[in-house]
Amino acid sequence: MTTQIKSLQEYKDTYKYSVESPKAFWKEQAETFTWKKPFEQVLQWNFDEPNVKWFTGGKLNITENCLDRHIETRGDQVAILWEPNEPDSPAKTFTYKELLAAVSKCANALKANGIQKGDRVVFYMPMVPELAIGVLACARIGAVHSVVFAGFSAQALADRVNDATAKMIICSDFNKRGAKNIPIKTVVDDAIKLGCPSIETVLVHKNTGDSIEWSGVDKWWHEQVDPQSADCPAEEMDSEDMLFILYTSGSTGKPKGVVHTCGGYMVYTCYSFRNVFQYQDGDIYWCTADIGWITGHSYIVYGPLLAGATTVMSEGVPTYPDPGRFWEICEKHKVNQFYTAPTAIRALMAKGDEWPAKYDLSSLKLLGSVGEPINEEAWHWYDKHIGKSKAPIVDTWWQTETGGIMITPLPGITDTKPTYASYPMPGIQAILVDKEGNELTGNDVEGLLCIKFPWPSMIRTTYGDHSRCKNVYFSAFKDLYFTGDGARKDEEGRIRVIGRVDDVINVSGHRMGTAEVENAINEHPNVVESAVVGYPHEIKGQGIYAYVITQDKELGDDFRQEILDVVKREIGPIAKPDKIQFVTGLPKTRSGKIMRRILRKIASKDSSNLGDISTLLNPEVVEAVKDGALV
Ligand code: WTA
Repeated sequence: MTTQIKSLQEYKDTYKYSVESPKAFWKEQAETFTWKKPFEQVLQWNFDEPNVKWFTGGKLNITENCLDRHIETRGDQVAILWEPNEPDSPAKTFTYKELLAAVSKCANALKANGIQKGDRVVFYMPMVPELAIGVLACARIGAVHSVVFAGFSAQALADRVNDATAKMIICSDFNKRGAKNIPIKTVVDDAIKLGCPSIETVLVHKNTGDSIEWSGVDKWWHEQVDPQSADCPAEEMDSEDMLFILYTSGSTGKPKGVVHTCGGYMVYTCYSFRNVFQYQDGDIYWCTADIGWITGHSYIVYGPLLAGATTVMSEGVPTYPDPGRFWEICEKHKVNQFYTAPTAIRALMAKGDEWPAKYDLSSLKLLGSVGEPINEEAWHWYDKHIGKSKAPIVDTWWQTETGGIMITPLPGITDTKPTYASYPMPGIQAILVDKEGNELTGNDVEGLLCIKFPWPSMIRTTYGDHSRCKNVYFSAFKDLYFTGDGARKDEEGRIRVIGRVDDVINVSGHRMGTAEVENAINEHPNVVESAVVGYPHEIKGQGIYAYVITQDKELGDDFRQEILDVVKREIGPIAKPDKIQFVTGLPKTRSGKIMRRILRKIASKDSSNLGDISTLLNPEVVEAVKDGALV
């Protein structure tokens, strides 16, 4: 097992060692895993191309490390504890032995359906155990998984399937979310109708069994998987072979496929899981994320299983059947580590203190937060009402591209301070730079957050477009990975991540490119142009504010609804603007660029001082936009 830091002194010593001798440090951690062939070199890298390779020459299979190597020591321990949508239905458990058998059966079914090493498989599923099983089955045979969050639209799904030229989609018939049964196989059908020429098979998991339409490419999961042998040899993978693609939003309209590879991702997710959550044998760990996002990949599936943990996976929503649901599950399964998003905390906080008060939360040893800055009020509520001021909060900063948690307190080891992600993990050289890329040394500074040296689980490329990876992350500053976030350091060097400095907004912890939403709005035939910005939102962190220029003079609520429908169709309900303001013009620079800074200020009700507008081509529109602002 990778090492686990136990004291502040050990953290300091380990951090120092990891920076002074990164190769030696990571070599020691990597050697704790099962390799089919040992690696020859720890690291080769340059950030110019970029070209980063960890544990070169090493051969492994990540599922052997998640499953097989635990069979002797903890074969009968629960690996996945699945809590269904309906509170009255019993939880379902998979021991490590059972999970290995289930993954192997599914892997054999994938092979029987023509999936080979290197092929891409897209998942479009609710939070059912079959999603985790399917993902691991891909990894077992060396197929590349790409999970698409099951709230995305048919168009968004088709775009991702086609970008990845996937051979297979694995989906469920329905997605149970609270009292709703959302048909999701129909979304896959619609995506196929839009055109997914590479798809040969759609494997359908029966979740509710309600009737669905059926076509030539469809096959039932149970008919394909159940008859298979529970023995499937683990494919030998190179350390740098692709493990998965996960699409995420950037500043341009097109989502990018972030690529992670086998060896480095394995080492870092296990190391970070064990240290950040201080997992001890017998603990019950629960992360409420969806496997459609990176948090679910790294800290529901891979990290916990690599560490031999019991990981809770839950279907449904936090407010069904009532806003006590999370706390009820914590009590029921005696959860020790609980990891969720600030948006969920704020939403539940708004429902009142009486909900957590109904449940015995004494099993909780630590609380985690991820996905967006946590505001002070939510931090204190979480601490007081959930952790009873006894469970340290780990405010974990990281990204899809970083693969694992980068900046975080270590519970009970380093101190915590509300709204601060605080200190970097061992091996992570986080620095702040000014706009020219000069490092801001010392404390009490504010700047752009960059990482100076490679870490094992970092992004390797953006699928099918390496130059995009270079341009977005490695071209801003020489020899630095640029995160896209702004941050400040306090007097003691704790880091607080303030938010994005690019055109990406963070809505309920979901990353959204403003250009993506604009492209969708512009699909409406009566829209001339649009500009989308984020504004502070009490529950979601940021809300979506859209300024829309239209040809139509008669604008009513119908039109507003049509725009919402277009966005829902093009991306999905998560991208629907909270506010739509119709305008006759948008503030632009002489070169024709929209001045978003001004629009952001107006949307944030902060328009008293708009800064320098002398470079505007059309300063007169600013007053008009201000006058029409939706408050
Ligand atoms: C933001 C989620 C402040 C940040 C794991 C980052 C945070 C983006 C935090 C990545 C945090 C994530 N404090 N901001 N603790 N965690 N962010 O790729 O802007 O979905 O760049 O990864 O979320 O979002 P992503």
